[in-house]
Amino acid sequence: MEYTTLGRTGLKVSVAGLGCGGFSRLGLGTGKSEADAIRLVGEAFALGVNLFDTAAVYGTEAVLGKALKALPRDQVVITTKAWIPRGSERSAGERAIASLDNSLKELGTDYIDVFQLHGVSPRAYDHARDAIAPVLLDQQAKGKIRFLGVTETGSGDAEHEMVQRSVDDAVWDVVMVAFHMMHPNARTLVFPRTIANGVGTLIMFAVRNIFSKPQRLKAELQQLAAAGKVTRWLGHAPNPLGFLIHEDGGGALNVTEAAYRFVRHEPGVDVVLFGTGDREHLRANIAAILKPPLPDTDRRMLAKYFGHLVGVGLDPPVYMPGLNLH
Ligand SMILES: NC(=O)c1ccc[n+]([C@@H]2O[C@H](COP(=O)([O-])OP(=O)(O)OC[C@H]3O[C@@H](n4cnc5c(N)ncnc54)[C@H](OP(=O)(O)O)[C@@H]3O)[C@@H](O)[C@H]2O)c1
Repeated sequence: MEYTTLGRTGLKVSVAGLGCGGFSRLGLGTGKSEADAIRLVGEAFALGVNLFDTAAVYGTEAVLGKALKALPRDQVVITTKAWIPRGSERSAGERAIASLDNSLKELGTDYIDVFQLHGVSPRAYDHARDAIAPVLLDQQAKGKIRFLGVTETGSGDAEHEMVQRSVDDAVWDVVMVAFHMMHPNARTLVFPRTIANGVGTLIMFAVRNIFSKPQRLKAELQQLAAAGKVTRWLGHAPNPLGFLIHEDGGGALNVTEAAYRFVRHEPGVDVVLFGTGDREHLRANIAAILKPPLPDTDRRMLAKYFGHLVGVGLDPPVYMPGLNLH
């Protein structure tokens, strides 16, 4: 494993972080058992992964907590999230504290390394900063939180409007950002500013469905070609990203590997989150994230074909339609 510093938090984190949400939810979302999920977390740690990202709404905090019981707490970085929608009888601050306390209980720990507000839309940002963050800073002073972060909504905020604002507000030390081969605009809109301000970055959506399900990729490219957004041959090619797959010159073994390698080597990317419930995928993804960058010629082709795309492939989980919190 390789390690890096998560921005100004100073936390030493593995460049590959295990995401406990997404469609897999450590395998709980794909029919695996809790025992399988616990084993997967242990294997990830044995392979050097020390950052685990979960959230109250994922339903994986408790299982992650059980898995972490076997691991040294000071060698693990736990990032979790609270989703605080507007409009409720209790104040947003009270709900944030309740969510934090519940996360501590579920995870079986007395502090969260990075506590994030989950899926903050541009419209909700002022409220998050002015009404919720001060309450969380009190909790930080009590030692229940080490650092605060925000995560964006994905498809609801494809231009990263919320994160672009948050990076200038000193309260958030970490941001979670969507970035991948066909949605690369964080390269210009986000990373120059996170680097300048020392804000740590956790990257989501590196693979999701679009680079793990060939039919999903083909369907997307057909639509994009029909809309004139990508060159026409990509819309009917049997293996549209085949140009990335070649044994010579450091090419990728498959599309998923290419997708993780693409994200990993982008300046400004600290941790690539990958979600899986599959032991083979766990190993393959860590290996991919530790491989060198894709060859220059392949990266140039990606920039030519897809560099202009925005908001592609940011699928919300099927069980929470309209809510892109996973
Ligand atoms: N707004 C937010 O806060 C937000 C939104 C989205 C994501 N996130 C975070 O980011 C994490 C990562 O996102 P993600 O879960 O979508 O992860 P991802 O790495 O982008 O995609 C993982 C998907 O691809 C499959 N997969 C993984 N490795 C594979 C491989 N080698 N070959 C084929 N298929 C593979 C997984 O299924 P298998 O189980 O079959 O491997 C899973 O369905 C989440 O777990 C969560 O922590 C946060």
